Amino acid sequence: MAQPHSTLLTGISELVTNEDGWTAITDAALVIQDGAVAWTGPASQAPPADAVLHAGGRAVLPGFVDSHAHLVFAGERSAEFAARMAGRPYQAGGILTTVAATRAASDAALRANLRRLAAEMLGQGTTTFECKSGYGLTVGDEARGLALAAEITPEVTYLGAHVVPPEFAGDTAGYVDLVCGPMLQACAPHARWVDVFCEDGAFGADEAAAVLAAGRARGLGPRIHANQLGPGPGIQVAAQAGAAAADHCTYVSEKDLDAIVSAPLVATLLPGAEFGTRHPYPDARRLLDAGATVALATDCNPGSSFTSSMPFCIALAVRDMRMTTQEAVWAATAGGARALRRTDVGHLGVGARADLILLDAPSHAYLAYRPGVPQIAAVWQSGQRVP
Ligand code: NIG
Ligand code: FE
Repeated sequence: MAQPHSTLLTGISELVTNEDGWTAITDAALVIQDGAVAWTGPASQAPPADAVLHAGGRAVLPGFVDSHAHLVFAGERSAEFAARMAGRPYQAGGILTTVAATRAASDAALRANLRRLAAEMLGQGTTTFECKSGYGLTVGDEARGLALAAEITPEVTYLGAHVVPPEFAGDTAGYVDLVCGPMLQACAPHARWVDVFCEDGAFGADEAAAVLAAGRARGLGPRIHANQLGPGPGIQVAAQAGAAAADHCTYVSEKDLDAIVSAPLVATLLPGAEFGTRHPYPDARRLLDAGATVALATDCNPGSSFTSSMPFCIALAVRDMRMTTQEAVWAATAGGARALRRTDVGHLGVGARADLILLDAPSHAYLAYRPGVPQIAAVWQSGQRVP
């Protein structure tokens, strides 16, 4: 019987494995077998393999895990972005512009846009991503968005409670009934997670709690958009709902901080949104110093954060959120995996999925040290080199 095919990747200047918190091996090698990591260690001790590749003294990291993205949409809002940069504040109401464009789009157009963004992510080293609905806001449009997302990722999130659509203006309770009833019925088969935008202008504490409880009763794991545009109840709602993560966490009170640490909730920080809205960046240092688990994600969406780049988010987190380079890279890999309750990705321990990035640089620090510079030399997903 033929031996299974194994590949030795050697000549790695720095191999980030994240096996026990931040872990990196210098002058390292790694063996891939059957789509998984079979061995890591010093290059001088590497076992033989069927094929050998040389990293050329460059760094290897786990593929990025982007645990928060809104990729099912049509249209764009560059004029809204330009107006914000000219001084106009961000308003969640802009979401409805995208809702109208998304409802009017064909399945083929939505699928093409979604796949283009997913390919863009993969080219920048993101090997696992989450994808939300939330720009359909009818039973049919939410279900179709989720079905399209499920074609390309298992991390699909039902966000029927993004904002109240125009046909329910003034009747938030009526819309929440739809979200928790017939819309959930139609959407749950396509999704793993349920999310709600808990914010002034979107949904309040009781409404958010109802949406998460209904989703949970249908087998979906709760997560939340919380405390993005101002202080609010979202983090407390998430803690009480047993959510995996509270996302944004831009305005965090002492009580919220306690809830994040003790629930525990992964605090998913989305600096692309603060970049795109001119809100203050979340205080990652305060969260980390309190013992919170922090993830970094893009929040890729056409309104607040139209970036698909995890390297960009890492650079912002290091420069403007007082994260160390190690903390930021851990948050963008292992932290994202924690936020999605995944143990097979976000690290390169033996048995992990062989999702890896070869950086065109000698260390992970270059991701922040050389912001905006393309440095992803190669990407492997489940042991397969991505073209
Ligand atoms: O995560 N906060 C709510 N949803 C998105 C923004 C969506 C939009 O502006 O289209 C966010 O920032
Ligand atoms: Fe978001």
